[in-house]
Amino acid sequence: MDKILIEGGRPLQGEIKISGAKNGALPIIAATLLCPGTHILYNVPELRDIRTILQLLGTLGATWERIDTNTLKINSDQITEFEASYELVKTMRASVLVLGPLLARLGRARVSLPGGCAIGARPIDFHMQGLQKLGAQLELEQGYVDAKVCGRLRGNTVYFDIPSVTGTENILMAAVLAEGTTIIKNSAKEPEIANLIDMLTGMGAKIEGRDTDRLTIHGVKELKPAEIAIIPDRIETGTFLIAVGAAGGDVTLTNCNPAHLPSLFEKLRSSGIYLEAGERSIRVIRSGPLKNVDIKTMPYPGFPTDLQAQIMALMTLTEGLSVIHENIFENRFMHVAELRRMGADIMVEGGKAIVKGQGRLDGAQVMATDLRASASLVIAGLAARGITEISRVYHLDRGYDDLVGKLGAVGAKIWRETGN
Ligand code: UD1
Repeated sequence: MDKILIEGGRPLQGEIKISGAKNGALPIIAATLLCPGTHILYNVPELRDIRTILQLLGTLGATWERIDTNTLKINSDQITEFEASYELVKTMRASVLVLGPLLARLGRARVSLPGGCAIGARPIDFHMQGLQKLGAQLELEQGYVDAKVCGRLRGNTVYFDIPSVTGTENILMAAVLAEGTTIIKNSAKEPEIANLIDMLTGMGAKIEGRDTDRLTIHGVKELKPAEIAIIPDRIETGTFLIAVGAAGGDVTLTNCNPAHLPSLFEKLRSSGIYLEAGERSIRVIRSGPLKNVDIKTMPYPGFPTDLQAQIMALMTLTEGLSVIHENIFENRFMHVAELRRMGADIMVEGGKAIVKGQGRLDGAQVMATDLRASASLVIAGLAARGITEISRVYHLDRGYDDLVGKLGAVGAKIWRETGN
């Protein structure tokens, strides 16, 4: 298995280009199932999760080609199958995103239940209840959700107890072809949902309420293929901002959207990091000591759970106490044990981590446990004294486009060793 090695303690200097958003591209790729024709997607990142969803689309009958590194052409003239197998769903939960579009187009979908994952139980009950509200008949058999509808889905009101990102996306994709109007109340309003709405609108869907927690969808009979650019990855952007905060230095991130990270900007500025936002760029400088801040993860525009592990690594480098509340996923503290191996003092009490900053970290052998936890270990390694060796880095390949290359180009001493 591959490893990443980092010799820490070098400030970062230069420019990093941000890739397209993984969580923006996944639902948009699923949305191409909604109608026949050829769709063109720009700014698609090169990631394992993207290859997984394309593989899934391939098993359903779609074909695709990369016109260049980041441009993808998907043809969905022939959608002949309706099953997302356990093999694919277990490697990537976001495979459940095909449920809504398949049901809307074919009237049938069979999707494996994702089961638990490293960061918690993560059920899909909201997706299922929402689709039932739209008239789908759902049965659970042998670990699969089998969904059927006679004729078209029918518009209705769907209310989410908690705003679910992929849940909102699934119901949106189902509702655009339904008969009548669907209202999604307490919907998620992450920028990736606005990106999907723009794609669906380009396909001819009628959606009101973009960027709000109440979406109104007037179903249409037919959609047409569309072109869209995937938005910049705000989690990759945030990860690099925190990395510069941890390692020190002066870096400019390009091809990003500063407006998508309001809460992170607040917290980084409060912890003594200089940020200068341009229209599509962010300059980040850290030269002085880091200050401790408290964090509470929340749905957008609150602090993203997908940056909780990374900010925790940063907080271990302050000389104060930081309380980090994880409010989205109950078990998202797997990185704590690994950070402790690097000398961090962190106590977990339920959904809260209390970080007693020690002002430094030491390199150690650590293990990546999930995608964002892996990123936090890279950040810790960049700041630590000595060498950090991170194993199980396949998690990183799921969601970071050339992380090692991008960090190396701004002066980090980081390399990958290929194992068996
Ligand atoms: C998406 C993101 C993921 C991010 C998460 C929260 C994608 C592909 N993934 O995941 O990177 O960490 O949003 O911002 O976009 N819930 C239920 N029942 C459901 C659905 C969700 O109880 O049917 C709960 C979850 O357990 C969690 C909360 O709702 O506590 C929010 O989860 P959700 O927004 O659905 O996360 P994902 O869409 O899976």
